[in-house]
Amino acid sequence: MSNSTQFISLHSASSSIVLELPPNEAPIWRYWGLRLPPHTSPEAALRDSRPLPTFMLDFDQPLTVAPSFGVGWMGQSALLAHRQGQDFAQSFQSCTQHWIRPHEAVCLQLLDEIAEIQLNITLDLNPITNVLSISSQVINLASTLLEIQWLASGTLPLPAHSQVIRYYAGQHNNEFIEKNDVLSRSIWKRESRRGRTSHDCSPSAVVLTEGATEFSGLVFGAHLAWSGNHQQCIEWLHDGQYQWQMGEWLAPGEGILEAGATWQSPTLLASCSALGCNGLATNFHSELRTQLPWYKGKMKPRPVHLNTWEGFYFDVYPEPVKELATAAAALGVERFVLDDGWFHGRHHDRAALGDWWPDETKFPNGLTDLINHVNELGMEFGIWLEPEMVNPNSDLFKHHPDWALQIAGRPLITARNQLVLDISRPEVSDYLFEKISELLNTYPIGYIKWDHNRDLTTAGLKNGKAGYRAQVLAAYALMQKIGQQFPNLEIESCSGGGGRIDFAVLQYTHRVWTSDCIDALSRLQIQKGFLQFFPPEIMGSHIGTAPAHTTGRSQNMGFRAAVAITGHLGVELDVRQLSPSDQEQLKAWIEFYKQLRDRLHGGEIWRGSGQDAWLWQMHAAPTQNAETQFVLCAYRTQATDHRYTPSIKLNMLNPAKNYAVKLLGPVGLDVSSRMQSNAPFFDQLKKSFATINGAWLIHHGLPMPRALAESAFIFEINELTTLSS
Ligand code: GLA
Repeated sequence: MSNSTQFISLHSASSSIVLELPPNEAPIWRYWGLRLPPHTSPEAALRDSRPLPTFMLDFDQPLTVAPSFGVGWMGQSALLAHRQGQDFAQSFQSCTQHWIRPHEAVCLQLLDEIAEIQLNITLDLNPITNVLSISSQVINLASTLLEIQWLASGTLPLPAHSQVIRYYAGQHNNEFIEKNDVLSRSIWKRESRRGRTSHDCSPSAVVLTEGATEFSGLVFGAHLAWSGNHQQCIEWLHDGQYQWQMGEWLAPGEGILEAGATWQSPTLLASCSALGCNGLATNFHSELRTQLPWYKGKMKPRPVHLNTWEGFYFDVYPEPVKELATAAAALGVERFVLDDGWFHGRHHDRAALGDWWPDETKFPNGLTDLINHVNELGMEFGIWLEPEMVNPNSDLFKHHPDWALQIAGRPLITARNQLVLDISRPEVSDYLFEKISELLNTYPIGYIKWDHNRDLTTAGLKNGKAGYRAQVLAAYALMQKIGQQFPNLEIESCSGGGGRIDFAVLQYTHRVWTSDCIDALSRLQIQKGFLQFFPPEIMGSHIGTAPAHTTGRSQNMGFRAAVAITGHLGVELDVRQLSPSDQEQLKAWIEFYKQLRDRLHGGEIWRGSGQDAWLWQMHAAPTQNAETQFVLCAYRTQATDHRYTPSIKLNMLNPAKNYAVKLLGPVGLDVSSRMQSNAPFFDQLKKSFATINGAWLIHHGLPMPRALAESAFIFEINELTTLSS
């Protein structure tokens, strides 16, 4: 056994990483999992402690931070590269470590002197959020071109008892649909080549080990901060563990690296938790909260929106829009967003994208009158834009047909009648910057809904090469430039709903449009998946009309509102058309949201489901006072099939504490109207707090009313300083 074996460890509050540093090789993965004591070290070098199998190479190659093909590693490579067929196999002969923060963040510089490649892998473990950020950088040290076919942002080890991979599928109007596959000896792989984060393949997944649930057990999660093509795979290894890689999917030729040039991967974020999927969600939420670009570093309470889209679609004529604004303000709306339809020639989705100035027939004198009206009502004004797109039927395209991404000789493929601009061309992004800043300089606009309504195809640059990566980087650069020029502007990332939701676009944006589907029942599933990685305060969630435009289903106002209030609340319907009773209820819900938003946003949340069609969400207030305050939103999604209603078990509470519980909502109508029969306990709970023991709420649970299908009940639950007896 070699005594000189070195190990390095990274620690956070609840997780640890241990790497072995054999001389003249890439570091070997020894551990990624729950927190170890500070000086824990492996019993011996790995090769000294694992007896060898039969019929193998005379060289034992374990999983490293950079497994590479061709020199002993038979599994998936973290890097696939060559120089016109030469240097097709990489192997690193040295590794130097540069500590960024002791025991938390390190840059490993790996050198392959034969292939003349340097690979820098940065591992940064946030000590508080428990999220590990990994990125990889390749430097071409030779004087010839290097072609990268695949570069994993990071390679992670998963333990042998990993059992299920949970990932998020879907499509437009149905994002973040949870799917579960059982891990096996076959490679598990997901790829997305749509040129955006996508509706159907979120670059994220959760791995549950045997017995893990929403609330307990060891789970691992990873997310790629990238708004373009991506891929991930999990592969079983012969020692029983798995390797997990995630990175950017590269189109042919996209990874060509000039002599001396550097290639930077997107960042992979990864975390583990012993507290099941909800514990993992807490880590990712906390991490994203450290990164969101709030003005002066602090999030304002999330203002209630009114968005004109489903109320008016393209028919945004000043008088009805002003009337809608007046009605919205009377209900308590705080930000009025003029969606699609306002700009030059935009009367349908077949024309005008690219011509970003007010339509002369709708707004002959510009937007000033409308915006003044909105501002005078006490609301902020926001506007819809889709900067990266152009309709062939537009002034912009007539003047610059060459500005669209295209492949010479091939037909242009439209989607929603539109093409994608090559915004990596400076003249194109300059045009967009000029048009957007002109708008923001002319009018007091506090918010942009930044849309991106199609996948990328024939994404060829001017030089004929693939431009998927260039497009993503140029979009970030444009957003950043606008953010720097207008620092208190808020931006929403929308892409036909949730097609561009990831940690990278959220470096420049403050809200996402979760889905074009605002049917409350569909939304419960979509939001549950969304909340696995993203916190509720950035989740655009609107109260829509009934029947819902995307599903044809109708839900009562209380249910629609109760589903929407947990996120960043908005209203998306023509509120002038509501019945007086619905208007009254809506007003009450908006007021209710304003009272609760400080407790709904910024803290820990737990998503749960109970028997008999109950789904629920518990939100803890962010400031941990002596008494923790919770809001519980419990949703009955279908009619009961039980004679008596099961209770909801609140596992996150402290068994040694007492809790004061009160039933707050539905609001704006008599709570009993959603009940099928009542019991004295709920009568009391509506009027005053009941004190209930934490252990009881954990193990027995909180009783639920016997309720009509599609009803929601909101409870306030406050921890009491008194210990339970
Ligand atoms: C996309 C968005 C919608 C709306 C329309 C406007 O589909 O997701 O919310 O803004 O574009 O065309």
